[in-house]
Amino acid sequence: MPATSSDPVPTLQLASPTSAAWIEQAIRHLDLILLDHANCEKKAAGNALSLLFRYPANGRLVEALSPLAREELQHFERVHRHLQRLGIPIRPLSAAPYASRLNQHLRRSEPEHLLDALLVAAIIEARSHERLGLLGIHVPDPELRQFYLWLAAAEERHWQLYLDLALEQFPAEPVQERLDGLLQVEAEILSTLHPEPRVHS
Ligand SMILES: [Fe+2]
Ligand SMILES: [Fe+2]
Repeated sequence: MPATSSDPVPTLQLASPTSAAWIEQAIRHLDLILLDHANCEKKAAGNALSLLFRYPANGRLVEALSPLAREELQHFERVHRHLQRLGIPIRPLSAAPYASRLNQHLRRSEPEHLLDALLVAAIIEARSHERLGLLGIHVPDPELRQFYLWLAAAEERHWQLYLDLALEQFPAEPVQERLDGLLQVEAEILSTLHPEPRVHS
């Protein structure tokens, strides 16, 4: 049952703000952050696509996530152009454990799996929104600053979309309860700075 107008509307507030240590690490290793960011955009597109494969009969998901996958690929193309403009050699990069650790908390049975997948996607987008916004303030290159501020606004729209999809398909109270639990898990994952500079280190 979806949320009704009398329910409080759940919202997503990250449980911990990004540390100054992450900002310093990111600015010092901007080449690695950009390479990792290109991968993050591909993964965001891939995650939207994998939900389309898993729930092909869910019309609302198809309608929302197919354009989202395309938009994430456009983001990837734009990050890739910045890598080329800045002369950063493209090379494979290991991922931070962030997403895989979050995904360990997805329940296996349905419909709980769908709820968890939508909420984890919303949280990842919300953290991207926060961190890309910080890069939009702190990176020295003015073209990149502008790019990151533009991207941060898109990622804000994306976390809202994933949360809306959850609320359209599940009652508000369990959505908020599960979201709060997953937000605590996410904050715990980021409580120690990963030694490798990454968007989600
Ligand atoms: Fe994106
Ligand atoms: Fe996104």
